[in-house]
Amino acid sequence: MIVYFSATGTNKYVAQELAKATGEEIVPLKELVRQQKYQLTVPAGENFGVVMPTYWEGLPSILLDYLSQAEIDLEDQKAYCYFVATYGCDYGNILSTAQKEFGKLGIQFDSLYAARFVDNWSPMFYLKDVDRNRRAEENGEAETRRIVQQVLRKEKGHTLPNQMSALGAAAAKANYNRIRKTKRFRLDIHKCIGCGLCAKQCPLDAIEIQEGRPVWVKKKCTLCLGCFHRCPAGAIDYDGGLRNGQYVYTKVALDN
Ligand SMILES: Cc1cc2nc3c(=O)[nH]c(=O)nc-3n(C[C@H](O)[C@H](O)[C@H](O)COP(=O)(O)O)c2cc1C
Ligand code: SF4
Ligand code: SF4
Repeated sequence: MIVYFSATGTNKYVAQELAKATGEEIVPLKELVRQQKYQLTVPAGENFGVVMPTYWEGLPSILLDYLSQAEIDLEDQKAYCYFVATYGCDYGNILSTAQKEFGKLGIQFDSLYAARFVDNWSPMFYLKDVDRNRRAEENGEAETRRIVQQVLRKEKGHTLPNQMSALGAAAAKANYNRIRKTKRFRLDIHKCIGCGLCAKQCPLDAIEIQEGRPVWVKKKCTLCLGCFHRCPAGAIDYDGGLRNGQYVYTKVALDN
């Protein structure tokens, strides 16, 4: 079983590559959350893999919220458990945080990996250079190929050091929680074509289409930037990020 979360496609790509090699089922976290399915059973004979983007040096809030209610049962207590983080510039403390947070549910990862792709945090990173994005994707794809081989061999003991002090990571998490407020999104009503994609793909149903236009109906979200990056009209802005461009990883079909 491979549980993943993805807004712009990177983690879906990594999960799919792992699934192709291991023949295991892919489970989107978004669907678990939508279906309020908090009981997970990993069948005997299967690995348990988790594939997540790095958000503010740590785990996405959608995963932390999910874990606060989840029960994960490994039918085979010796199942190979692994975690893969994708990131764009620094993975911070996500690996040690993942080990700690899943540890609360009795899951101990045998190895924790990281693959560097494009950084989709548009308020800070320029995304209009298609060639540079492609080079970053190729780097991530090569790292993914290595990780897939390590998972197939069920290698144990891999991890990477924290890139931040505990204090720095706590400050990053507090900042993430401070800024993941939907009132910070701006809609250009002259650009919006009312297609509804932003609402359909939001993993937390934080957006509703009212009178043909998106309205953010929840105060907080996980700040995945899926609505921002995937809007076909470039009608949504977050913190001036539009000036740096939108990004999606085109090697996978993005679902709603
Ligand atoms: C809210 C937010 C915070 C992020 N924080 C970091 C970070 O701390 N370090 C980093 O290297 N990348 C960071 N990123 C970039 C993503 O981790 C990276 O682009 C990831 O591969 C996106 O996955 P996806 O395409 O599956 O959505 C951040 C992205 C978002 C949206
Ligand atoms: S995805 Fe963009 S164009 Fe479509 S409804 Fe949302 S804001 Fe409007
Ligand atoms: S409102 Fe936008 S950024 Fe927030 S969770 Fe939904 S899709 Fe992601």
